[in-house]
Amino acid sequence: MAVGVFDSGLGGLTVHQAIANRMPDLPLVYLGDNAHTPYGVRTHDDIFDLTCKGVERLWQEGCDLVILACNTASAAALKRMQETWLPQNKRVLGVFVPLIEALTERHWGDNSPPREVAIKHVALFATPATVASRAFQRELAFRAIGVDVEAQPCGGVVDAIEDGDEMLAEALVRSHVEALKRRMPHPEAAILGCTHYPLMEKAFREALGSGVAVYSQAGLVAESLEDYLRRRPEFLGSGTQSRFLTTGDPERVTSKATQFLRHPIRFEAA
Ligand code: DGL
Repeated sequence: MAVGVFDSGLGGLTVHQAIANRMPDLPLVYLGDNAHTPYGVRTHDDIFDLTCKGVERLWQEGCDLVILACNTASAAALKRMQETWLPQNKRVLGVFVPLIEALTERHWGDNSPPREVAIKHVALFATPATVASRAFQRELAFRAIGVDVEAQPCGGVVDAIEDGDEMLAEALVRSHVEALKRRMPHPEAAILGCTHYPLMEKAFREALGSGVAVYSQAGLVAESLEDYLRRRPEFLGSGTQSRFLTTGDPERVTSKATQFLRHPIRFEAA
């Protein structure tokens, strides 16, 4: 009954952790494509091919349902995967929609026309590929009207995290927040639209200052997965074992994951 969790690298661990906290008895197989991270500077075709390969590897682990714990893959590949590639007996879910539902005060399945919501000025921090896709704005426009979104492509942050360079990651976060604030001085909400960014949440919060509601996806995705599995238990796969897999060097990834999550995690070669 395992579920797969996929990311280009370490970021999806933030989502994995929230799912594991919420559903401790659910076996989870994590796959980080650390050999090819970052995805955020790749073409959409490249992201599609790499994501399909990762999802196929998780099928081998008995995971019929895979969470793309990666905004870049959710924005650049998910729709195409669902429309052109995915077999009927498998499911792939992204991390975008639960976040937008929270921001727009909606529950799953509420397909009513877009309406005004309380938040009017939203700062979006994401990878260059996610920002370029405009997937966030598109999903938001289906649900809300009158929301002004200012998006900041946060080049370099994922690389710094993957390299274990927390000081550089913090400095980059500060400069990206400053750049955004020059264009939108008073956002009411900030979206951490890359699953790596909650690892730097403190730096984002400090740079944004108080009074900005910070939305990150981990808890929201875990909640919506629990709800999904209640409705569609047939997508609990045959796998029974929890594992952490990487396409990169397992020793190196183990050490960086342990550094960022502040508890030991052991990766194996995918
Ligand atoms: N953690 C990913 C995301 O949510 C991927 C970042 C990357 O590989 O550039 O976008």
